[in-house]
Amino acid sequence: MMTEVTGHGHLVDRLYEIKAKDEKGMPRSNVGGWHSSDELYKDEEFKSTVGDILLKAKECFNHLDVQDKYVPEMTGLWGMINPPGSRNNIHTHPYNYLSGVYYLKVPPKSGNLVFLEPKPQAEVLSPPKKKDASVHIAHSVDFEPKQNSLIFFPSWLQHEVKTNNSDEDRIILSFNINWRENADN
Ligand SMILES: [Fe+2]
Repeated sequence: MMTEVTGHGHLVDRLYEIKAKDEKGMPRSNVGGWHSSDELYKDEEFKSTVGDILLKAKECFNHLDVQDKYVPEMTGLWGMINPPGSRNNIHTHPYNYLSGVYYLKVPPKSGNLVFLEPKPQAEVLSPPKKKDASVHIAHSVDFEPKQNSLIFFPSWLQHEVKTNNSDEDRIILSFNINWRENADN
């Protein structure tokens, strides 16, 4: 699911501030880029962004027919700054239900997000497909990010980020979401 959230441009400056104090960050799938700690949701400056992401996550829950008494809970939020030449290896987000990315700054050619076939056997025998074939039968889906867009995907779905071939930093927030019972129910 893809949607749009605006008004969070100041977070780019905040991420550079955090990076200046923690250059090492938390190495994960990043190759050549910087990955912050995954506890940014505890940072006051990210609170309204977390609220917006959770609202959109609830829409995903509804779309996925999750019972109304269960609501999304954020279990991780981190920033990534991928300078030119950097990328992210193939990975999943274990022990979570939904994951996603909020694109703060994505210059053209700064790296597509590529989702990979989760069932390797499916590629053993597959006829050539039409150019406009449905993504639902594709063996990989190449997603070109748009600034201020928010994308959700299942945490188990393997993905990678292609090399930043622009001459600027590619800056994103990424997150993990699980479910919890709504205390109001
Ligand atoms: Fe990821």
